Amino acid sequence: MRTTVFGTGYVGLVTGTCLAEVGHQVTCVDIDAAKVEGLRRGEVPIFEPGLEEMVLANHGAGRLGFTTEAAAAIEGAEVLFIAVGTPPDEDGSADLQYVLAVARTIGRHLSAPAVVVNKSTVPVGTADKVRAAIAGELAARGADVAFEVVSNPEFLKEGAAVNDCMRPDRIVLGSRSAPAIETMKRLYAPFNRNHERIVVMDERSAELTKYAANAMLATKISFMNEMANIAERVGADIEMVRHGIGSDPRIGYQFIYPGAGYGGSCFPKDVQALGRTARLHGYEARILGAVEAVNEQQKHKLAELAGRHFGGDLRGKVFAVWGLAFKPNTDDMREASSRALLADLWAAGATVRAHDPEAMHEAARIFGERADLVLCDTPAQALEGADALVLVTEWKAFWNPDFDALASTLRGRAVFDGRNVWNPEQVEAAGLAYYGIGRGRSVEAGA
Ligand code: UDX
Repeated sequence: MRTTVFGTGYVGLVTGTCLAEVGHQVTCVDIDAAKVEGLRRGEVPIFEPGLEEMVLANHGAGRLGFTTEAAAAIEGAEVLFIAVGTPPDEDGSADLQYVLAVARTIGRHLSAPAVVVNKSTVPVGTADKVRAAIAGELAARGADVAFEVVSNPEFLKEGAAVNDCMRPDRIVLGSRSAPAIETMKRLYAPFNRNHERIVVMDERSAELTKYAANAMLATKISFMNEMANIAERVGADIEMVRHGIGSDPRIGYQFIYPGAGYGGSCFPKDVQALGRTARLHGYEARILGAVEAVNEQQKHKLAELAGRHFGGDLRGKVFAVWGLAFKPNTDDMREASSRALLADLWAAGATVRAHDPEAMHEAARIFGERADLVLCDTPAQALEGADALVLVTEWKAFWNPDFDALASTLRGRAVFDGRNVWNPEQVEAAGLAYYGIGRGRSVEAGA
């Protein structure tokens, strides 16, 4: 089927590529000419396992094109995806200007019936706004072209986006139009083998489903971080508690990992935006407010533990920081906990030597040149002359360091494990102080 995808960010590029992979004819449109040029040369602007190979193969096979020419891309497309960004504006609401700009562009050029699909995470009611924007442009030029709007939220995780897209848990389709749903079912048929993954509902329910999913996951994390803070105070180990509760299938093992807080382009933004939507409709979503507040506090946890270890004075201390991305397998540092940690350490007069397997360019772009930051090419380099080591992102490469070597390198003889990936006994046996998240011993060490 001929399909056009607006926006070549994470969601748009992955969606377009996966649709091409199963045989559809896909054109990706972006207003950024340099990005489009790069993609045509096979340069994928994001780090996403498996994506580059897939882009190259499908581009080479002529099924996946990239352009800045919206009009030509709209012509003859049966399905038009809107997958542009919805960044938070000043008050935490999702900024719809890019989504609506695409809708108007579609309205200006649409000449044959098509299904317009909202893939971006958008507030409840956006499908109506998109419909109105397209209809407005069609009316302005006196065109009478039939179109439908479908809400089809994306649930892909960064770092696993290709797999999530090729093998979705569910495909949510929000529309009251039976023909539009039929078109979408044909488009997604290759992803819907073996068992039925398609869930059909109205537009608003589909829009809320996306926010509810992300808010639920963020709530699980903040809940566990709250438990960790209690565990730390009462001398319990949250890792034991995690095992103890995860075995209950009603709770489950996923997304109950305590740590230095959640980050990324979705959870912080979506929890805020949903709270804002609720408020606009006269309801104060108290759980969402607490989820956000606990997460904010958690992002400062590592610096707080470091302050405790060094008697409240971090001036002149050198911290090796392992991991800058908001989670492993991505170079994305949006809302990353590392940023709160670095800001705290710098504010306290410390220096940072940081390494991340993928996010070094991103870190250089964000922080620029500064005297209190050294970006290191290897984890070992980050340790040179350091007083302590802080792990913020649990890349596999950081899971099994040589603690004896660390003990002889780190002047302050302390490690801070922001994701509870190390074994405290093993660390302590090497003669280092271990600080984790919610592991009772932090009380003893700090007392
Ligand atoms: C998330 C959702 O998982 C995805 O379905 C949605 O489409 C977009 O938002 P993503 O932002 O890529 O995906 O990251 P995710 O893997 O969910 O992790 C989010 C954050 O939560 C990370 O900072 C991670 O470190 C943190 N996290 C995750 C925890 O702190 N504990 C956990 O148990 C799980």
